[in-house]
Amino acid sequence: MTARRASGLSGTVRAPGDKSMSHRALILAAMATGVTEIDGLLEGDDVLATARAVEAFGAGVERLGQGGWRVTGHGGFRQPEGVIDCGNAGTGVRLLMGAAAGYPITVTFDGDASLRKRPMKRVTGPLTDMGARFEWLGEEDRLPLTLTGGGLRGLDYWQEVPSAQIKSALLLAALNASGDTLVYEPIQSRDHTERMLPAFGADIRVAELDDCTAVRLAGGQALTGTPVSIPGDPSSAAFPLAAALVVPGASITVEGVMLNPLRTGLFETWREMGADLTIANRRTAGGEEIGDVTARHSQLAGVIVPPERAASMIDEYPVLAATAAFASGATVMRGIGEMRVKESDRIALMAAGLRACGVAVEEEPEGFTVTGGPKARPVRGGATVTTHGDHRIAMSHLVLGLAAEQPVTVDEPGMIATSFPGFVELMRGLGADIASA
Ligand code: S3P
Repeated sequence: MTARRASGLSGTVRAPGDKSMSHRALILAAMATGVTEIDGLLEGDDVLATARAVEAFGAGVERLGQGGWRVTGHGGFRQPEGVIDCGNAGTGVRLLMGAAAGYPITVTFDGDASLRKRPMKRVTGPLTDMGARFEWLGEEDRLPLTLTGGGLRGLDYWQEVPSAQIKSALLLAALNASGDTLVYEPIQSRDHTERMLPAFGADIRVAELDDCTAVRLAGGQALTGTPVSIPGDPSSAAFPLAAALVVPGASITVEGVMLNPLRTGLFETWREMGADLTIANRRTAGGEEIGDVTARHSQLAGVIVPPERAASMIDEYPVLAATAAFASGATVMRGIGEMRVKESDRIALMAAGLRACGVAVEEEPEGFTVTGGPKARPVRGGATVTTHGDHRIAMSHLVLGLAAEQPVTVDEPGMIATSFPGFVELMRGLGADIASA
């Protein structure tokens, strides 16, 4: 797939449903008793893998129409037949392992080549402390693995790495444990699980302490199905908005974007870089604040991104780096070692891709710095970028190609459908020239 230099991209679009919330809605609905109707579900490959998984765990799953799904839960996960294949989805597999750990079932989890490279002990470790049993079927700390659940006890867990996947896996397991579970977060990670659980009837307490946020969940709670409305994914909205910032004359609005403050670090950073970014029509939907976000072409300047902001934009550093290539001066991104264990080593791949396109990048163990040129020295482009099947690496470089001098090609564009099905068509609708190479 190749992106070519554009001008004056414009229009109004809607971002696909939030990926984090979509996984959670399906899993909670399957753990609950009764019917959950979901609207706005992301129909990306990651979430579809979770939908298949919850069906294998015994829930009734029906697609009612675009983004509209009905899940009928039977009050718990049943013994599935066969392997639960979570595809490319780290969130899917880690949350499903947490949920499944609470039931007396034995389950084998697996994923694609990228997911098989990602660390699993961060979740299996604390779940083992709660009483779950795991067997590595291949390499230790990696999929495939077999889980035997049931008989869990609550846990006090101090979370060193800010990870909503670990926190959520423990909270889902805690629902079927004896006693309380407490997760302490020195840096708060996205809180969609905490926000969604009360709608399913769970009692969950979040308290701000001196040095952390504490989440407390009492064990032995039953969930009841409830309607769930899923707003637009800010992590997906970031790509058309980024294109607007770097393409001369562009102005793009993305409607219905979720604005949970634990997800909007990128917007804050872009503003500090001088981005013309406005938010209109702020409202609430599905327990989250949402709004319509408009970005216009802007002269950006490099900034130092505060490391403590990383948790609120951890998936957005690739697209930030693409826009930083067009900023004057250096954009310094540190404290983001977690980027190396996402769908790919995102620091290494962004550094390699941007360098291949003529951008100055300095890589560090836990960060990188992208230095844009003065106005007279635009981004060259003219490279084929290796994405290792990572959707965000692919979209970030296609955005870069829309404003670079020469076309930018990405391999494996099919993987974009894991989080943003219809990305290429949406961008073409805004005037972008993105086509098969
Ligand atoms: C997610 C949490 C983040 C993020 C991922 C989605 C979630 O991962 O990178 O894309 O939905 O909980 P970590 O929790 O591992 O940081």
